[in-house]
Amino acid sequence: MKVGEIVVNREMQPGYHMVGFHAPEICRTACAGQFVHVRIEEGAQQILRRPFSIHEAGGDGILRVVYKVVGAGTARLAGLKPGAVCDLLGPLGTPFTPPEEGVVPVLMVGGYGAAATFMLAQRAMTPGYVLLGARGAADVLLTDRYREVGFEVRVSTNDGSVGQRGLVTELLGPLLEELRGQKVKIYGCGPHPMLMALAKMLQHSGIPGELSLDHLMCCGVGACFACVVKVKADTPEGWTYARTCSDGPVFPAERVYVE
Ligand SMILES: Cc1cc2nc3c(=O)[nH]c(=O)nc-3n(C[C@H](O)[C@H](O)[C@H](O)COP(=O)(O)OP(=O)(O)OC[C@H]3O[C@@H](n4cnc5c(N)ncnc54)[C@H](O)[C@@H]3O)c2cc1C
Ligand code: FES
Repeated sequence: MKVGEIVVNREMQPGYHMVGFHAPEICRTACAGQFVHVRIEEGAQQILRRPFSIHEAGGDGILRVVYKVVGAGTARLAGLKPGAVCDLLGPLGTPFTPPEEGVVPVLMVGGYGAAATFMLAQRAMTPGYVLLGARGAADVLLTDRYREVGFEVRVSTNDGSVGQRGLVTELLGPLLEELRGQKVKIYGCGPHPMLMALAKMLQHSGIPGELSLDHLMCCGVGACFACVVKVKADTPEGWTYARTCSDGPVFPAERVYVE
């Protein structure tokens, strides 16, 4: 367990915040796709830890997380000022495997998934693409940051307020046509239906990919089995359970069990 002092905690855009913790030890080994389990305290009150993907782990020792306020824990986190401290467990979980040189990374993201895959883009040797899906303009995150690191950003929104109207999965086919003849690897992080649709496409096409499966968590370290999902296995049922906190959250697309 490490104590992380908050150095910045600001609203990036309505509903979404970015918090930076001074956490040099975690930053030293953190990889894209891993998360920190944060205990958010207020006075004498304690609540359970909350998991957040590591958005950025800088050489400056600042660990950044982008979060959406959805309930009591995230509302409390949003109220903490620089100087407050939180217990941090991390880095936890199985990370994304970085793309090899010459392989074009294609990130398909929705919601805070845009934050969770950012270090892949930041550290990629070959610039790639981000396909970013959102309900509307208010949920489109971090596009400028991806552009700054040389990634091309393509957006789709359900209401058509930014980018192409429709589902983000509809952006993938045309991009793969453009990239025909090149080696690509797809990385997914976002809402469950998006990930299941992506898993189906990748399993059908044989294109390599990795998906981050987010699930409600409790211990965060593999001990309680609160966070299991089905993954393909050589069993009579064709699947077994895996813990998203320790076996995942990142799984190869071919292992994902689509019901
Ligand atoms: C590995 C992992 C990484 C995550 N990374 C981020 C991140 O980078 N940024 C971010 O904003 N959030 C992230 N989350 C989700 C985040 O943990 C929850 O939003 C947070 O725990 C909610 O806490 P709360 O007390 O504010 O809300 P609660 O009162 O606990 O929940 C509010 C509502 O959100 C729902 N909810 C809570 N957690 C999840 C979840 N994991 N999936 C779907 N619905 C959920 C609850 O069912 C409830 O309806 C991540 C979750 C996991 C498992
Ligand atoms: S949250 Fe306890 S095993 Fe995953």
